[in-house]
Order: sequence, then structure tokens, then C-alpha cells
Amino acid sequence: SHWRPLIGKHALVTAGPTHEPIDPVRYLGNRSSGLQGYAIAGALADLGAQVILISGPTSLLAPSNVSLIRVETAQQMEAAVIASLPADIAVCAAAVADWRVADPVSSKVKKQAGSPPPSFVLEPNPDILARISRPGPTRPALVVGFAAETDDVEANAIAKRQRKGCDWIVANDVSTGTNVMGGTENTVMLITEDGVEHWPLMAKTTLALNLGRRIALRFGAPALA
Ligand code: C5P
Repeated sequence: SHWRPLIGKHALVTAGPTHEPIDPVRYLGNRSSGLQGYAIAGALADLGAQVILISGPTSLLAPSNVSLIRVETAQQMEAAVIASLPADIAVCAAAVADWRVADPVSSKVKKQAGSPPPSFVLEPNPDILARISRPGPTRPALVVGFAAETDDVEANAIAKRQRKGCDWIVANDVSTGTNVMGGTENTVMLITEDGVEHWPLMAKTTLALNLGRRIALRFGAPALA
């Protein structure tokens, strides 16, 4: 693209799942592919932004024009995000594990005949989106979060925007059958301070481009003729 309205802007994007270790060979994880976050990072870079992509474990190649930081756990992701501030734009597309195993062990948990299966104590992970949305000198001017909902998508996303303190929420319906997680297409609502927009089904790459354009307009870029 020749339209580079985000030149001079710094953006950070989180993407992918996190893996929370149980022992050296096992982890708690989720089905996030990272596709949507990687596409957003690429779109923002194409629009001229300097982009840091903070990614959990994925099998994707990062766009060549972004700086990639790979992490495994939510705590590592949070540390990388904080170390990447200040930024003008933050897009939290990662599917961060809500909980981690409180005491991951350093040797493989053994299966023992006759013994009951192990149980694990979980503790909550930091909420990176809420943390980055907190008012303060390093809060990005625009913080965008995602919401994967299965019921009452709009009402839940509006409530989530308030609760997290972010500026926008991109909300999608991940109920069984929609094939969003792991798929290549997405139908979303964009929740902003001005209301709710229903976007049609589109490729995740197209969604990334549209979101990038919306972000550019928010930073005062004249609309592309
Ligand atoms: O309600 P939920 O926590 O699932 O909201 C999802 C949004 O919050 C996403 O933008 C996700 O990246 C972000 N999030 C986060 N850190 C967490 C949990 C969610 O940044 N620990």
C-alpha cells in the first residue's frame, strides 16, 4: 500500500495462545492460532507504523516488517508488553490463559499404576489488557481488546469494554460451528466509545486491514480517496 498514515506511530500487538507449564513436557493451552493478531500486526506495519508483535507459541511466520518477541507464558507476555511501552497503539489479540499452574514441577509427572491422577492448583494470570488500559503516563492513546463470546455477544462486549478500560473491543462469536478459532474468516462487532458496528463476514486479513484503516482515521489520517 502507498497510503502510510501511521508513519511515526508505535504499535504493539499481542497474538496467539499462551502455554502455562504443568511440568517440563506438559502445558495448559488453548486453540488460538495467532492468525488474527499476526494479520493486524502486518496491516499496521503496512500502514507505516513501527510494530512490535508479542506472540505466544504459534506455527506462523511473522510479517517481515514487524519486530517479533516470542514468549510462552502470560507472565512473560505481560513483561514483554510492559517493556515495549510507550506505544501509541496497543492491540491485545492474544488468547491469554486465564489461569496457570501454581507450582509447575521441574521433573515429568509420572503415571503410576494404582495411584490416582494428579491434581493441580491453579492461580489467576495477570490481565494484560486491563493492565495496559490503566490510566497513566505510558497508557497508549488507543487500546483495542478482543472479546470471544458465545452468548449475548454485544452486551457482553460492551460490558467488557467498560470493565477492562480499553477504548475499543473487537467482539466475535466463537460458539461451536462458527469456526473462528483456528479458522481464516471472522464476523465481528466493533465496539467503540461511539457505539456498535456490525461488520460482515470477511477474511481475517481483510478484517486486519479494515481495523488498521479505522485506527489510522482515529489518529487523524484523511480518508483514502
Ligand atoms: O474476558 P477476556 O479476558 O477473555 O477478554 C479478552 C481480551 O482480554 C482480549 O483482548 C485478550 O487479549 C485480553 N486478555 C489479556 N490478558 C488476559 C486475559 C485476556 O490481555 N490475562
